[in-house]
Amino acid sequence: MDELKLIEPSHGPAPTPAIEDVVPAERGTVYVETYGCQMNVSDSEVMLGVLKSAGYSAATRLEEADVVLLNTCAIREHAEDRVIGRLSQLSHLKMKRPDVVLGVCGCMAKHLSEQLLDRVPYVDLILGPDSYRDLAQMVQEARGEPALDVKLGRSETYVGLDPARSEGVNAWITVMRGCDKFCTFCIVPYVRGRERSVAAHEIVRQAEIAAQEGFQEVTLLGQTVNSYHDGETDFADLLEQVARVEGIRRIRFTSPHPSDFTPKLIETMGRDPKICPFIHLPLQSGADPVLEAMQRSYTTAEYRKLVEDLRAAIPGLSLSTDIIVGFPGETREDFDRTLDLMRGVRFDSAFMFKYSEREGTVAEREIPDTVSATEKGERLEEVITLQNGISLEVNQTYVGRTVEVLVEGPARRPGQTSGKTDTFKTIVFTGEAEPNTFVDVTVTDCTQKTLIGELA
Ligand code: SAH
Ligand code: SF4
Ligand code: F3S
Repeated sequence: MDELKLIEPSHGPAPTPAIEDVVPAERGTVYVETYGCQMNVSDSEVMLGVLKSAGYSAATRLEEADVVLLNTCAIREHAEDRVIGRLSQLSHLKMKRPDVVLGVCGCMAKHLSEQLLDRVPYVDLILGPDSYRDLAQMVQEARGEPALDVKLGRSETYVGLDPARSEGVNAWITVMRGCDKFCTFCIVPYVRGRERSVAAHEIVRQAEIAAQEGFQEVTLLGQTVNSYHDGETDFADLLEQVARVEGIRRIRFTSPHPSDFTPKLIETMGRDPKICPFIHLPLQSGADPVLEAMQRSYTTAEYRKLVEDLRAAIPGLSLSTDIIVGFPGETREDFDRTLDLMRGVRFDSAFMFKYSEREGTVAEREIPDTVSATEKGERLEEVITLQNGISLEVNQTYVGRTVEVLVEGPARRPGQTSGKTDTFKTIVFTGEAEPNTFVDVTVTDCTQKTLIGELA
């Protein structure tokens, strides 16, 4: 009820409790559009949870909402350009319905702050990723003149706020916020602030709520999720605590940092059948001088050794990664080493990006961008072609096998259903099955992106 208290006059006698103090008044509808990573997806659910408990309800269409919030990303220039483009589309909405509160939240709001008002003067609300606790009050304030809060909190972890989870079969749980690694290319530490972990009991509480809501899969989230620590409780302990929550059958996490894998974590993953055999393990580059300039804190030899250890401990492990091409100073030889490492490790899949210079980072300030746009484009194409071939070959090894699938829902083609394997592969199969159930599926074919099968 904090939200109601905050908009009461701050003088005069305390009013008698009104019905609104018990049941929040209907304040209107809200639509949150999410960009960026899973942490933003999770934050959007927190935002919606805060607004719902203040009396708002979720709009099904953006065009009909009274409050429109874009939860944005700043990781690459392109991510911000997309949001600027979206905001210019939304100028029509503001012209037609000037009462709509239009807010920009998240990482790009923190990055551009009031500069956003120069570019998009009709924005009502600018909120950074640590400012959602007071979201309802800020929305009220924004009805007068533009409201802004982009302060980063050293301790804000949204403890006690219950997310309004969207449909789907996976529940996101943020276990740590911010990042202390300061990789030289990356804007995240500047827009998300210092690393802080959520108390383990709160994470277990969130997992219990998710299980009560019917979720059988949870994904623990953090920018360097395996650097998690709460007193004596490290990430391996946390995984085990979540695994004990009744009703949870699959546990995933993203993104771990290669330097923060401990033997204990590897052993825990190998031992606990609920922890899915899938790891997104961002590599960035296969050349040591580039890794060093990026301040990634591991060498290629250490990375390869980690992959070896993980594969030895976790049977059937599936691995994905992130690659940046064209980091300043990356030579053709450096890039060839990245290709070599990818041929050696054979990732199941990869997200591949052209380096994008970000304001305020060490790379932007100190390392001249030496790789031309054309070279970046060519390298990106080359690495994508290589990975597509490997992804297809890895998927082909599944053909003939029967795998357990968590059903997500009907696929595009009638009579077909889609879901995920424990190794995080999308599988489309012939036959019908209820969402959020487990079925066995025999793999009959595949593409580089999808397994194809039949109900076993
Ligand atoms: N915390 C995760 C990554 C989060 S950002 C980790 O450390 O692994 C997701 C990915 O975006 C990164 O892994 C990196 O590959 C990419 N990325 C980050 N900054 C970038 C930039 N300036 N240009 C291009 N890609 C970038
Ligand atoms: Fe960015 Fe590096 Fe932190 Fe990942 S670990 S969020 S890449 S600074
Ligand atoms: Fe983007 Fe922020 Fe995530 S910059 S990648 S939404 S932490």
